[in-house]
Formats: sequence, C-alpha cells, structure tokens
Amino acid sequence: MNDPQGFRSPETTSKLPDVGTTIFTVMSRRASETGAVNVGQGFPDYPIEPSLAECVTEAVAAGFNQYAPMEGSLALRAAIVAKIAVSGGRAVDPDTELTVTCGGTESIYSAIQAVVGPGDEAIVFDPAYDAYDPAIRLAGGRCLHIPLAAPAFRYDWDRVRAAISDRTRLIIINNPHNPACTVATAADLDTLAELTRDRRIAVLADEVYEHVLYDGRRHQSVMNHAELRDRSFAVYSFGKTLHITGWRVGYCVAPAALTRELRKVHQFNTFSIAAPLQAAIALYLQRHPLAFREVATFFGAKRELLLRELAGSGLELPPAQGSYFQLADYSALPRFAGLSDVEFTEKLINEAGVAVIPLSPFYREPPPGMRIVRLCVAKRDETLAEAARRIRAYTSQP
Ligand SMILES: Cc1ncc(COP(=O)(O)O)c(C=O)c1O
Repeated sequence: MNDPQGFRSPETTSKLPDVGTTIFTVMSRRASETGAVNVGQGFPDYPIEPSLAECVTEAVAAGFNQYAPMEGSLALRAAIVAKIAVSGGRAVDPDTELTVTCGGTESIYSAIQAVVGPGDEAIVFDPAYDAYDPAIRLAGGRCLHIPLAAPAFRYDWDRVRAAISDRTRLIIINNPHNPACTVATAADLDTLAELTRDRRIAVLADEVYEHVLYDGRRHQSVMNHAELRDRSFAVYSFGKTLHITGWRVGYCVAPAALTRELRKVHQFNTFSIAAPLQAAIALYLQRHPLAFREVATFFGAKRELLLRELAGSGLELPPAQGSYFQLADYSALPRFAGLSDVEFTEKLINEAGVAVIPLSPFYREPPPGMRIVRLCVAKRDETLAEAARRIRAYTSQP
C-alpha cells in the first residue's frame, strides 16, 4: 500500500516476499532456548586446532590488518593452488582462475549474479541448499526445481534434458550433496557435459564437501572433467575443510572468462575477505599441506559413531556417502509414521530434547509423505552420543 509520500511499504517492495528466517537458524535458536542437543545446523561444536588459532595471532601481529587484494591474498591463492595440485587436481592459474570469497555462499551468489539475467532460467535439484533459489531470483532469473529421484536421490537426467531450453543459462549441482548425503558419479558428470555441450549454459558445482566422502569413494570434481572445467564455477569452503564456518572464507575456481565476470560482482559486494584470516589460512596450509586428507577419516569416525549409537532406535539410516550429515527415515516407527517431517522435528525438540532438520524445507514442492530428517555429524562425540541416547529413549517409548 502506498503511504502519503508515495513510498511503498517494505512488504510490497520485497524482492523475496516468501523468504523468511532459514530453518537452520530457527532450529539453532530453538535448541539454545530449550537446552536441546543441537545436531541440526551444520557447524562444529568442538574447538579448532590450536595451531590454526595461533596463525591468526601471528597474522595480526605481522600486520595483515588492511584491505586484502580483491581477488584474494597472493599467499592464500598460492596455498590453494598447491592444495589442488597435491590432491591431484588440475593446474589452476591463481591470477585468472581463482577468487577468494566470503565463504562458499558468496562464491555461489557472485557466480549466479555473473551469468543469470532477467528472463534467464537456472536449474537446481531438490532437495537443494537454500542459497541457490533466492540468488537466481534476485538476478531476475527463473529457478526451475527438478527433484532428485527417490529413494536414492539420484539425478533424473531425462527430466533435465526436457527442462533445458534456449533460456537456460545455469545448472547448479552440489557434490557431495547436502542434504541428500549422496555423491555424483563420473557418469553423472559426463551426462551433464553432454547436456550442456554447445549451449550457453554454465555449470555451478557446489563442492564445499569435496573432502568428505566415505567408504573409499572418490570425489568427481567438475574441475577435473575435461569438458565441464571450461564452463564451470567450482565452489569451496574452508569453513567445511578446516572446521571454521565462522571465519567465512571460501573460494571459487573457474575459467578466466567466468572468473572475470564473477569478480565484477565480488568487487562491489564484499570487495575483499578478512586479511588476517586469509593470511592465517595460508600459513596453516603451508605448515600442514596435507591437512585436508584427514577430514574424511575425521568425519567418517563420527558418522560411524552416530550410526552405531542410533542402532536400535528404529530409524532407518542409509549410511551417508558424503557431506557431514546423516539422514534418518522414521517411516518404520508406527508412533510417528503419520507425522510430517516438520511435525516429527517439533516433537523431537520438544519431547526428546534433540534438534534436527526436516528435509521438506529443502524442496519447493516437498514430495508427499516425506519422512526423513537430517542430522549433522560435525559435533563432539559426546554431543552425538547424547543426541542418539535421547532419540533412542524417545523412540522406544510405548
Ligand atoms: C551445500 C552447501 N553449500 C554451501 C555452503 C556454504 O558454505 P560457507 O559456510 O562457506 O558459506 C554450505 C554450508 O552449509 C553447504 O552446506
């Protein structure tokens, strides 16, 4: 409604009228209000490596306290290039193909703004991480949601083929996948390459869980795909790899032409990322060049602990293939099978004292009968064991 001066009220001018506070924030807030054990939101509750914390003190003392270069500090970009080489990735030019951003989230936002414009379409796969759709709409684009095929959450490439048109500018994949906990295969990437060949379609590969794959699986990165690497933004996060989600440091690898466009957005959004934190991560990676190799073992042990402790709960627990989450299906529990996942989550926090995340908010149109919740394994062993103990006690009540 217009006011007397002709200004419109904030409600009618909202560009994202349907967007509220995310389910992650809501559940974390509820957990701290109620004293529930929080295995919902994806952040570690354990301390960081003391030697990593010391790197920050060193960086501040050494004078890294002013604007860092827009594209990322030289030392951090060099350390990232070295890290990619050590993990068998392709050679990346730090000057033209690599940009340090405010977490993986800013890489995602900047990449989307760089290539999607009014009237364009972008394809995402539901369940989808919540940052994709609003960024596409803010760019003036239309977001097409294609569900991953239940029950195994696999890509339905025939549906993608049918959805692609001359308006399609971007396809976003997430590998390993949050919240499905699945990993893409080499065949998936080959099909994606074939579907985007000779078209004006870029790929955004959200690979923030690149190092968190279980049971001997290997990460299939678009960066190492002979064809996709030339049309893809690949997004990474030190929050996930070094257990520092609050530092907000991530990066994007993309061919020079895409990087150029991404930096135009990044430059006028965050401009550059906290200088001492970039210096600290660079220092840490120089001293521990293989630190990322420990990540899968670290989270793998936590996934095992959670699976072990939840055995006997009646929940169905398809072991996560990757990411630092684990899904739990409660449809075999007669007491709860009639509840939606949101209702089940409510009951768990109120009556069992455990905060988890329902899966349906990750969908534009949740499939009917969704009976799955997500638990985060990036927690202290005691947190995981206590959450599982409470869930077991609750689900075994008559
Ligand atoms: C799939 C996925 N992509 C991106 C991000 C964002 O990463 P960052 O915290 O570095 O912004 C997350 C964080 O939870 C995530 O799960």
